[in-house]
Parts: sequence; structure tokens; C-alpha cells
Amino acid sequence: MWPYPKIVAHRGGGSLAPENTLAAMRCGLARGFHAVEFDVMLARDGVPIVMHDPHLGRTVAGIGNVPDYTSQELTAMDAGAWFGAQFTGEPVPTYRQVFDFCVANGMWMNVEIKPAAGFEEETGRVVAELTRQWLQAERISSAAKMPLFSSFSFEAVMAAKQAAPDVPRGFLADVIPDDWQARLRALDAVALHTNQKHLSATAASAVKAAGYGLFCYTVNDPHRAREILSWGVDAFCTDRIDLIGADFS
Ligand code: G3P
Ligand code: MG
Repeated sequence: MWPYPKIVAHRGGGSLAPENTLAAMRCGLARGFHAVEFDVMLARDGVPIVMHDPHLGRTVAGIGNVPDYTSQELTAMDAGAWFGAQFTGEPVPTYRQVFDFCVANGMWMNVEIKPAAGFEEETGRVVAELTRQWLQAERISSAAKMPLFSSFSFEAVMAAKQAAPDVPRGFLADVIPDDWQARLRALDAVALHTNQKHLSATAASAVKAAGYGLFCYTVNDPHRAREILSWGVDAFCTDRIDLIGADFS
């Protein structure tokens, strides 16, 4: 059974706010979303920050790669101006800030571990270890309230499993690989996360029949959303939080 919300705001506020910022989380919350997906990677000093691209240039000005900069440098960068003048000055948040915001506001988290190349094991381990400590401090342990880790990096999810076996995991794949069951078993994962574009009814049935949760990204068309839900998909994230509400069915 899928104990988490069905509709998840992608990168916090979908297409309505600058992705992976606290402004995005506030936007999702204001629209009634109590579930968010966001991307976490490590800064040079090993502090996890919330950002999608492993390089500067799109959501923050500058050149170079995220692992070249300390968390102090990254969190001083403007991650809002690219999206709209009203978001100018919105910083790159730390994972800790986003985690605290979600806990304080009762928002469920799909924490996508997004390691920069070469940092797969370290990112999975650090994110999981910190999450474990923070959950313990907040006394969060019920199944429905636990965050769900996911990553395109098998190595990162494996490291997360070793560091925090009690925090549930999903394996994320653009196209479901032939060996998906072996991978999910090896990770002791609860769910498969995959691109809705490549999903078929047959594949969805197979994942559900095997007893796993099935999560899709990124579903922006209500018709497609209804179709995949009818195939047994448990949950999906969306950028169109204006079109697909938190109570969508
Ligand atoms: O976690 C689902 C989805 O966010 C994966 O792709 O590139 O949007 O992080 P991306
Ligand atoms: Mg993501």
C-alpha cells in the first residue's frame, strides 16, 4: 500500500515559482499541496543544498560546478531572479532549511538525491545520515510521514540504504530497466519511480503485481494523469499545480 500523498508538487512549486527554493515550497503549500519533490546535492564542504543542475548558469548566475562552491557561497546566490523579478534575492536553500520547512508545515517529502558526477556514494550517505538524525530529533517515525528517497544513481540509493536503512527508498529510472526487480530487491526499495512518458499499462501492472509502489514524473496533462492512475500508478509529481490540484483524482 502507498501511504504517501498521490499528487506531489515537482521541485516545490512546479511551474509557478523558481524551482527548489523556499519560495517554491511556500507556493506549493499555498496551493494546498502537502507533498513535494525536490533535488539535493552536496556543496564543496559536504553540506547538502537544494538544486537541480550540477552546474551554475541556469537557475543561478555564474559558471562552474556545484561541487566547486561551498554551501556558504551557494546559499548567497540568487536562485529566483531567473524566474521572475518578484523572486529576485530568493536564495539557494540548504536541505536543512527545506526539510525544516516541510516538517513545520506538514509537507511530505520525496527527496531526490541528485549527486554531481563522482559524488554518488558520498551524496547518498550524507543525505541519508543527516535525514536519519533530523527525523530522530523530530521524533518522526510513522510510515506515512517518512520522507522517501529516490535517485537515478543506484550507488547513491545503495549508500542511503546503508546509512539510514529505516528511511524508505525508491529507485528512479527514466526507462524501466529489464533488471528492475533485482535492483529494487538489492536496494530493499519500496517503490519504482519512472518517467510517465515511457510507461505502459503492462509495465505498471507488473510493478504493482510485484508489490511495489509506482511513482511517475512529471505529469502535466490531466488526461494522461487519469490514464496512468487507472493503470495503478500510486502517485506522481507535476509542474502544473495550477491545473492538477492536490485533490486531483
Ligand atoms: O524525481 C522525479 C523527477 O524530479 C526526476 O527528474 O530531472 O526533474 O529531477 P528531474
Ligand atoms: Mg527531481
